[in-house]
Amino acid sequence: MTRAHPAGPRHGDLLLPTSAPTPPTDAGELDRLTWPTHAARDAAGALTIAGVPVTQLADTFGTPVFVIDAEDLRSRARAYAHAFDGLSPAGVDVYYAGKAFLASAIARWVTAEGLGLDVCSGGELSLARRAGVPGERMLFHGNNKSLAELRQAVHEGVSRIVVDSFDELDRLALVAAEADAAEATVPVPVLVRVTLGVEAHTHEFIATAHEDQKFGFSLASGSALAAVRRVVADPHLRLVGVHSHIGSQIFVASGFEVAAHRAVGFLAEVASQLGVTVGELNLGGGLGIRYTEADTPLDISEIAPVLVRIVAEECARRDLPMPRLAFEPGRAIVGPSTITVYRVGTVKPRSLEGGGRRVYVSVDGGMSDNIRTALYDADYTVTLANRVSLAPPVLCRVVGKHCESGDIVVRDAWLPGDVTGGDLLAVAATGAYNRSMASNYNLVPRPAVVAVADGEAAVVVRRETLDDLFATDAGLA
Ligand code: LLP
Repeated sequence: MTRAHPAGPRHGDLLLPTSAPTPPTDAGELDRLTWPTHAARDAAGALTIAGVPVTQLADTFGTPVFVIDAEDLRSRARAYAHAFDGLSPAGVDVYYAGKAFLASAIARWVTAEGLGLDVCSGGELSLARRAGVPGERMLFHGNNKSLAELRQAVHEGVSRIVVDSFDELDRLALVAAEADAAEATVPVPVLVRVTLGVEAHTHEFIATAHEDQKFGFSLASGSALAAVRRVVADPHLRLVGVHSHIGSQIFVASGFEVAAHRAVGFLAEVASQLGVTVGELNLGGGLGIRYTEADTPLDISEIAPVLVRIVAEECARRDLPMPRLAFEPGRAIVGPSTITVYRVGTVKPRSLEGGGRRVYVSVDGGMSDNIRTALYDADYTVTLANRVSLAPPVLCRVVGKHCESGDIVVRDAWLPGDVTGGDLLAVAATGAYNRSMASNYNLVPRPAVVAVADGEAAVVVRRETLDDLFATDAGLA
């Protein structure tokens, strides 16, 4: 059997006429729930963010450019920081999951709004420290933390280290003992990450099937209990709680309900088998956002009481004290706040098999700044951003400039039929897992990230230059 796929046709199925949405009646209209809060059109029809036209941003900062509506991001962080106020006597902590997108400004904003920070590598931890976030505001994740990363986390006094395997427990035990000998520190605070056998996706969840993946200690095999036993027995470690993350871009509470049910069952097992009361239950991140009108996420103010109630009821049923709760939203805080602005280059009409026509609109970025369409079949909303056009809409595919036919930004989009080279396109909800997953494929420098508030724009991450890219090239002797 051959496993090779030629450079293009891997995504060949995407090239077929797919389920294109129906044409909009007004191609310039902005769906309030998809675009950042302070997105609007100015008198000339240009898209504006917090009062600044994207035409101006493109001229000043170049394209592609990520544009953050700073107040949108901060108000979502604020909403999450306060969503659980007064809901549970045991308390609730919310950590922003930095993997969604992390830069110094973001780290400062979310912590200033009252959130903790979930970091998952030495790089994220270092950036957060540089931004002035103290270790005690951070929680440290990762399925393969190195000795160096664990030493860094312990040295920085990170408030919770989430252990993911027995090998990592060996490493952490060593690091904690070293630290104790050198600095006489208090025991290292640990959460044990448990794989509950629940994996949630958009609009659905699957229970039982997800033992076969790399994260956490398996509940079903007894590893999770063995891990807790080891933490409790180690004088250099302190069991703070149990962690579970069931997936991302989740819209329904039922996935969390199954997770909470199983997690509390595990807390009961720990209590009965080891005589230990687990003080904290972290249910991870995963709350979904709206990429297109098909997505209908719940507001955190609606879902927070539901999540707390689910755990409270489970605990009451099992006669356990309510643990402190924790959540780690990433996408839901940063995703909706940001758009990507591209400039159109080539516009190429193509005939579809079976009739019809699709216009390939090539932009000056692509899979290097948004890998999600190729990787997850993700769907996005796009609009003509420098003007409004009354030309009848045509079925388009917004594609990038990379050497792959799978380099698609938006698979099916209705854009005005007169879209042409030099126009600007804006793609909504690109704040999470876009810039943070960006690459230099084809040696394309990664875009700048610019924040806009009250009519003023500021650089959050500057555009990469070719010199940045070549700095690591050792050259020929
Ligand atoms: N906590 C843990 C342990 C996680 O693994 C994640 C995400 C989060 C929190 C934050 O999840 P969020 O609230 O952002 O859904 N690259 C993928 C998503 C990967 C999620 C990885 N873990 C995407 O672009 O859809």
